[in-house]
Amino acid sequence: MACNLKHLTCSLLLFISLIGSSIADDDEDLLEWVQQDNRRFLNAVLRVSNLNRTIEFYTQSLGMTVLRKREIPENDSFGAVLGYGPQDSQFVLRLKQIREGENLDIGTAYGHFGISTEDAYGLVEIIRAGGGVITREPGTLPGTTQIFAFVEDPDGYSIEILERPPTPAPINHINLHVVDLDRAIQFYQQALGLQLILRFDNPLEQYTMAIMGFDTNLTQITSVELQYNYNVTEYTSGNGYIQVAISTDDVFESADAVELVIQELGGTIIRAPDENNKTFSFLDPEGFKTVFLFPSKMISSSKLC
Ligand SMILES: *[C@@H]1O[C@H](CO)[C@@H](O)[C@H](O)[C@H]1NC(C)=O
Ligand SMILES: *[C@@H]1O[C@H](CO)[C@@H](O)[C@H](O)[C@H]1NC(C)=O
Ligand SMILES: *[C@@H]1O[C@H](CO)[C@@H](O)[C@H](O)[C@H]1NC(C)=O
Ligand SMILES: *[C@@H]1O[C@H](CO)[C@@H](O)[C@H](O)[C@H]1NC(C)=O
Ligand SMILES: *[C@@H]1O[C@H](CO)[C@@H](O)[C@H](O)[C@H]1NC(C)=O
Repeated sequence: MACNLKHLTCSLLLFISLIGSSIADDDEDLLEWVQQDNRRFLNAVLRVSNLNRTIEFYTQSLGMTVLRKREIPENDSFGAVLGYGPQDSQFVLRLKQIREGENLDIGTAYGHFGISTEDAYGLVEIIRAGGGVITREPGTLPGTTQIFAFVEDPDGYSIEILERPPTPAPINHINLHVVDLDRAIQFYQQALGLQLILRFDNPLEQYTMAIMGFDTNLTQITSVELQYNYNVTEYTSGNGYIQVAISTDDVFESADAVELVIQELGGTIIRAPDENNKTFSFLDPEGFKTVFLFPSKMISSSKLC
């Protein structure tokens, strides 16, 4: 009798461990699939206090083109899409007019976006001549050759100007401030399928930066910069920066993978995908919102507007 019971326990344990390992295998397959998925950064969404004024600055001082515009942006709908090329191949910015009666609060969690130019000194002079604020004159960090500058748009959003050769990704990166850099890197690798391209420390200016992308050639792609500022443990999210959107070949698989990683590293699902609306949105462990879009969904929504 005792022997039989023992046998039963053993079988049960074996059975349970088999189920356990096949779940683990499925999880591994899912995370492996994330790395093979066809992804790119589509757009970032920012609220602005005066859409026309921002459009004027982005077109006249930064040389962007208005790709789409709604003359009467209602409520929280987008007002304009701006960029340097077609949004079906390039990363673009979607600007929203802030709701009436609300004040724009840029917060401290969102850092900046960066643009590439072949002549950073020349572009900074154009921005200055247009009345733009230069917060960091063009130059390099000690011991490096990358020329860069920082300017501010009319709302005070920071914009980095990077001197780079011609590129298919002129809106070069977005920069986000994080409190736990290692966790953020791990989340973005596993849940988003991004690769860590470069990680460096700048003790002089008290930050550590991790640059991540869906490909590794920094001059050719749009990347995300995760910036850890020494000893900063809290940021405010404000109401300016809203989200970044990423394409996927399968929004349901993408959602499953994100949920899996959220269980381990933290984060919040905002909207699960359904058959009618193939989008999926969530907050990462730092509280930044990401939206996954199935490409056909992206095309049909761009035809609509
Ligand atoms: C913004 O500019 C458009 C023309 O491009 C104009 O029709 C609209 O009234 C302007 N809106 C505001 C709030 O000034
Ligand atoms: C905008 O918001 C107002 C008030 O909440 C609402 O009555 C109106 O229908 C909304 N418009 C659209 C296009 O959603
Ligand atoms: C990145 O791409 C550019 C253009 O194709 C090329 O000239 C450069 O050598 C590449 N850099 C690296 C590190 O592969
Ligand atoms: C601030 O951060 C740096 C780098 O992470 C660390 O070496 C230093 O000990 C921290 N200082 C304080 C006061 O926590
Ligand atoms: C579909 O999803 C998008 C993005 O979350 C949302 O803005 C839109 O309202 C949704 N449409 C419907 C019909 O639910």
